[in-house]
Amino acid sequence: MQKASGNQPSKLLIGVTIWFIITSFVHRPLPKGFTDGVMDRFSMHLIEPILRITYYWPAEYLCPNAGCRLTLTRAVLSTLSKVIDPRNLFDRHPTMQLSTEYFDGVRVRVYQPKGNKTSDGAVVFIHGGGFVMGSTEIYEGLMRRMTKMLNMMVVSIDYRLAPEATYPGGLHDVERALTYLINNAAVFGLDPTKIVLMGDSAGGNLVAAVTQRMRTVKGVDLAGQVLLYPLLQFHNLQTESFRHYYRDFMGFALVDPYSLAFYYMWYAGIDVNKHPELALSAISNGHVSPKVHDAVDDLLDFTSIPSSLQHDNLPAILEPKENSKAIKLLEQRLMDPSFAPLIQRNLTDLPPSFVMTCQFDILRDEGVLYAKRMREAGVPVEWKHYDHGFHAMLNFHNELFIAQEALSDIVSWVKRLLETS
Ligand SMILES: *[C@@H]1O[C@H](CO)[C@@H](O)[C@H](O)[C@H]1NC(C)=O
Ligand SMILES: *[C@@H]1O[C@H](CO)[C@@H](O)[C@H](O)[C@H]1NC(C)=O
Repeated sequence: MQKASGNQPSKLLIGVTIWFIITSFVHRPLPKGFTDGVMDRFSMHLIEPILRITYYWPAEYLCPNAGCRLTLTRAVLSTLSKVIDPRNLFDRHPTMQLSTEYFDGVRVRVYQPKGNKTSDGAVVFIHGGGFVMGSTEIYEGLMRRMTKMLNMMVVSIDYRLAPEATYPGGLHDVERALTYLINNAAVFGLDPTKIVLMGDSAGGNLVAAVTQRMRTVKGVDLAGQVLLYPLLQFHNLQTESFRHYYRDFMGFALVDPYSLAFYYMWYAGIDVNKHPELALSAISNGHVSPKVHDAVDDLLDFTSIPSSLQHDNLPAILEPKENSKAIKLLEQRLMDPSFAPLIQRNLTDLPPSFVMTCQFDILRDEGVLYAKRMREAGVPVEWKHYDHGFHAMLNFHNELFIAQEALSDIVSWVKRLLETS
């Protein structure tokens, strides 16, 4: 004890010095308005460089191809999530019962608060990660927190990921697990009309697609959907929110247009590891055929984004650098609303919806537009825009007040919805 405490000041000094050297290398001021409050900005000034050092730079500078970048990113994020909150490694929790189960062959994590009334309803959660990464493990902390806040059963689905399983593999997994839960609701003491589907980012894509598809299935009445900074289209990567990235966020370890292009193409079943040029063509929208434009452009009117959200001085829209192979490979997908839910023409009869969008997110505009289009179709929509929020911020619910506030908003909406339904 004596010895250890005697050592500490010098260790601390060395630590601080190393930290100082590292930070002076990697420090980049965050753009104005990116999170608010001194504490959150301080936290992000630590978190973002850590992400940059641990996966973004190594992936960028050491990897020869997209497959390597994906493997590395998956491994680092999975490790980080364990290091950040090692409590999640233990399958024990004083206030809830945790289990890993298989719903019709699909792996799920089930969180049941002790002393719960499952009859109050349940949330089925679809994690994000661009269709290519993420897992119930990485979301363990967020799910536990949400279960506690909701005091309701939560089911988190480990759907299959691309490129190993391409579209519609993951989508079908979600549908299978959800259908199983509905059909076996009695086993859980659950009222099957009180299920809310929720997902973030690419998980939001799957939620939107499944919610649209389930409308016509007899005996299924989802109580609601929660779309958290959802990914809803792959037709226009030159919207304002995408161009905002090029103005303010190039090189930050935040969701970027390049990764998105690779991930969405992988989901579509295209081998961008061998053919990176196909993904790169999407950056300038050179992957969209005239036929697709004719079929869906009226559904993708991004000029209708409220002027209050507009960014000034954005870089000009790029001229499409057309790639005929990408155009051909994607034509069918880009006209399929289950692949890109924003191009669903018929949005009537969708359940009450909560849509969260963030100002600092390349996907902002598609979320805003979907909320607007659903409202116009008569769907009860609560659209909540976070002026200082950023993509994937809920993953930092332990570190950031802004993420905790958003989480409270989401939980209150779900509770209110299920109490009144
Ligand atoms: C509530 O959750 C527990 C597990 O913590 C479960 O055993 C029990 O059946 C649930 N209660 C009801 C009323 O469904
Ligand atoms: C839209 O979808 C609903 C089913 O959810 C259906 O009842 C309705 O007829 C559809 N409307 C059109 C114009 O296709």
